[in-house]
Order: sequence, then structure tokens, then C-alpha cells
Amino acid sequence: MKRVTLVDVFKHRITQKYLQRSGIHHAVTVAGYAFEMAKEHGVDPDLASKSALLHDMGHYEWYCDGKWDYEEYRKHDIHAIKGAERAHKLLIRLGEDRLVAKEVALAVLLHTDSYLPFGLEDKRTPLQHVVTRADEKDEQPGGLHHYKKMDKTEAVQILHELDKKIEAFLNQEDELSG
Ligand SMILES: [Fe+2]
Repeated sequence: MKRVTLVDVFKHRITQKYLQRSGIHHAVTVAGYAFEMAKEHGVDPDLASKSALLHDMGHYEWYCDGKWDYEEYRKHDIHAIKGAERAHKLLIRLGEDRLVAKEVALAVLLHTDSYLPFGLEDKRTPLQHVVTRADEKDEQPGGLHHYKKMDKTEAVQILHELDKKIEAFLNQEDELSG
């Protein structure tokens, strides 16, 4: 089966619609971090970078008079739940393997426990752990990481390079196991 690339995922209209809200810069940067961390932790870098790219696609726009309303956000936010569902639907539409789509959806669902009535502590799988850490690595006080700008062309270039690295890594793994 042909691999669904990060560029395929990024260019889809569902991604384009929802990724703008939390910022393309944050999504692409976290995907890059997740790729590196996945290799260190023995996690599939394809799964990690896809989950990272899509982790915040569930954001609702909590704007009030042109400004982000953090009080409303904290009270009502379920972005990880919405994101998991959107990421799953998107990947299935792109023809992604169903198990991959499920793993990505779960990593998106569990990348934060801010919306849960209990903490996840050490209950995350290695993939979920990598995605959470990669997200935290790009976080800035006051949510500034969501406002950094990156245009679509630059994002596609970076993701294309990342796709090449992922494919090289997966091919190498295949050769070692075959
Ligand atoms: Fe994030």
C-alpha cells in the first residue's frame, strides 16, 4: 500500500480548514520534533509525525471581540476530542491504513489531559508520550506558539523533506528486518 504522506495530509481541505486555527507553524514544528523523538524512543516516525501534525486540529475559535478568550477556552475546551475525530476521518478519506488512523486518533486524543477529570501521568504509550513531549517542546507562555506564522509553501517544503527522511528511515528498517 502506498504511504499517505505528510504533504498529502497537509494539503487536504479538511486540514487546511482546521489547521489555521492553532497555527501551521506550530503543527509543522511539532511534526519535526516528533520525528526526531520517535527515532530516539523506538517509535514509528511516520505515526509520530502524522499525529503531531494533526494534534491541534480540533481547536474551536474562542474569540471574543477579536481576542482569544482564555477563560472560555479553559472552561469549555475539548480540542483533543474533536481533533481525534477529525484526524481519523481525514486519514480514512486519504486511504490510510485503519490501524494507523486509530493510533493517530488516540495520540491526538491523549496529547493533553487538560480536558480530563483525571491525569494520564505514566499511562501513555511510547507513541502518545512522544507526541505529548514534542508538543510541549514548542509551547510558549500565553499560547504564543499558536501565533507564529508560516506560509503554506514553506510548510509543504518542510513536510516534503520530513517525508523523505521518514521514507528513508522506513526503508532502512525494512532492509534490516528483511
Ligand atoms: Fe499543541
